[in-house]
Amino acid sequence: MARILVVGDVVDDLIVRPLTAVTPASDTPAIIRRRDGGSAANVAAWLGWLGADVMFVGRAGADGARRHAEALERFGVQARIAADGEHDTATIVITLDGGGERTMYVDRGANSALSTKDVPLSAWKDVRWVHLTGYSFFDPVTRPVAQELVVRARDRGAVVSVDPGSVAFLREVGVDQFVRWTAGVDVVLPNVDELRCMTGVDDTDRAVLELSRWYPTVVATLGPAGAVQMTPDGFLVRQRAEAAEVEDLTGAGDAFAAGFLAASADGLDAQHALRRGAETAAVAVARTGARPPLGEARTVLG
Ligand SMILES: Nc1ncnc2c1ncn2[C@@H]1O[C@H](COP(=O)(O)OP(=O)(O)OP(=O)(O)O)[C@@H](O)[C@H]1O
Ligand SMILES: [Mg+2]
Repeated sequence: MARILVVGDVVDDLIVRPLTAVTPASDTPAIIRRRDGGSAANVAAWLGWLGADVMFVGRAGADGARRHAEALERFGVQARIAADGEHDTATIVITLDGGGERTMYVDRGANSALSTKDVPLSAWKDVRWVHLTGYSFFDPVTRPVAQELVVRARDRGAVVSVDPGSVAFLREVGVDQFVRWTAGVDVVLPNVDELRCMTGVDDTDRAVLELSRWYPTVVATLGPAGAVQMTPDGFLVRQRAEAAEVEDLTGAGDAFAAGFLAASADGLDAQHALRRGAETAAVAVARTGARPPLGEARTVLG
């Protein structure tokens, strides 16, 4: 089994669902739930659930490092989460309005203090694939760390994938910058908004072709419309979304990435890897939160 290293964000998601109309400057009753999150940690969790040989490296507050490591270990992930003495665990407050629209307030906390020293030498042993997320590149403090990881991975002949992750941050930093920062990345996994933002092209087939000028492999997820991949040899491969009873879309892209990575790292072809991505995402959208169910994937996937 190929070893996959995931480095990046681990987050406490606080999900706020107001029970009445919001009263500015006063109290609004709400249901508030804490969930484990962070795009990179989510991908690691789904990889572990799929039975992949996966290590996650990240940073959290003194309060959260152990808790998050244990949460990932339950899925079979080898977790190396450094405890930060100065910063709290990253927190994202997600407010849901009546229409299900999500507004996110992001405090990167300890994720901002990630250093190359947090990645143990043992993490590099037999590594075949390294997965990173855009957040590590958007943050000026962790950008050099992410770039260093790309260089190290390539030195070892590992494949490097990146999920841009945030259209808002892409717009803020500018696409040209992001493309420059992620030079050397083999596989980019945008969602449809990120794909359009990065190319300025609306038509998704044309947009993946456009993006393949910068990244050898482009895997774009298109929500309920599935996914499309441009392979390094110029083939366009399509995948339908699996039918699912949608409960919560949070983490769909992360689950898809994990399915795709697990299959690709094991040497499966594009069509099989996309299918595994869609199957894994279908499990994610049918549950609340961004993490897998406890228990192995083969009891859920066919
Ligand atoms: N309504 C749906 N029904 C079934 N599958 C879905 C649905 N929405 C998304 N998916 C699956 O999830 C995959 C990823 O979804 P999407 O493109 O929305 O990712 P994303 O925007 O990165 O998600 P997130 O950022 O919330 O993790 C899709 O390719 C598809 O396989
Ligand atoms: Mg996404």
